[in-house]
Amino acid sequence: MPLILGIETSCDETGAGLVRDGVLLGDALASSVDEHARFGGVVPEIAARAHLEAVRPIVQRAVDAAGVRFADIDAVAVTAGPGLATAVQVGLAAGKAYALALGVPLYGVHHLAGHAAVDVLEHGPLPARCVALIVSGGHTSILLLGDLARDPIVHLGDTVDDAAGEAFDKVARLLGLPYPGGPVIDRIARDGDPAAIDFPRPMTGPKDPPYGFSFSGLKTAVARWVERHEGPLPVADVAASFQEAVADTLTRKALRACAEHGADTLLMVGGVAANSRVRALAEERCRAAGVTLRVPSIRLCTDNGAMIAAVGDLVVRAGAPAADLSLGAQPSAVL
Ligand code: KG4
Ligand code: ZN
Repeated sequence: MPLILGIETSCDETGAGLVRDGVLLGDALASSVDEHARFGGVVPEIAARAHLEAVRPIVQRAVDAAGVRFADIDAVAVTAGPGLATAVQVGLAAGKAYALALGVPLYGVHHLAGHAAVDVLEHGPLPARCVALIVSGGHTSILLLGDLARDPIVHLGDTVDDAAGEAFDKVARLLGLPYPGGPVIDRIARDGDPAAIDFPRPMTGPKDPPYGFSFSGLKTAVARWVERHEGPLPVADVAASFQEAVADTLTRKALRACAEHGADTLLMVGGVAANSRVRALAEERCRAAGVTLRVPSIRLCTDNGAMIAAVGDLVVRAGAPAADLSLGAQPSAVL
């Protein structure tokens, strides 16, 4: 069975992983998240420079962790988009260099296909049809997935403004909490009342796009509430109520997509899938609807190289055509 090297550099994580026949042999990850912290979000130039420095050692570490040799690698898979253009370019250049040096084929991978395919490494093959809720700092999408190696990804809906993770980060900032805000809000919300404040569930009206999201309005609603509040801020209640609004909106729409598209499996991935309330509500609603919920372990939920190798593995085994060295970054394209 072919051995695939996967490389991911679309945002602020530099990842490499080695996969053979649906099995993750080893991976390595570096993050520039700390360098972005003081800006409150990812700065593309800083991310690209960090990838440049990290990509070679990270690939080496992944190869060592997998206990393989470079000469054993049969194909290189690399994220071609969507993502930050300069960051994607660094991974592409590295992927091309490895493919050329090793004399093996190169495959451009859709980053979102990677988020979905990574689950195969832990829970086995995906069903022929499933809905994926991809919720991270960069994306909030509901996708309809068929065969990841052959079928195009169908975008049922995306956010029209902020991603869910971005909303967590921005709300944390306005509550005076550190970046990245998601894990901090998750922790603080445990001591709060999710019903304390009735924040809006944006884009859930009868005329709204059924699978669209808008989180910037929710963030503004939190900001207004905080501005108007007198006396000590009940931070835990604000965090819990905001988190409840996000979890409710995400899971409601994801389950609607399952029902309307005849999918009996929901895949939930991305940094926000690590959120304890999002997970609990998804479990509760999936159980009630008879839908199987699949969530990769938190380590694989966020950006990593294993997920790109996982797509490469499916694509190579399906006999799909390789890319050539003209493969370019497709920052916003649906590949
Ligand atoms: O998938 P990821 O590591 O990177 C990309 O954006 O692609 O996602 C990072 C995002 C950040 O916005 C972070 O605040 C959020 O995921 N996040 C969480 C939690 N852990 C990470 N949001 C809510 N609850 C969490 N436990
Ligand atoms: Zn991602």
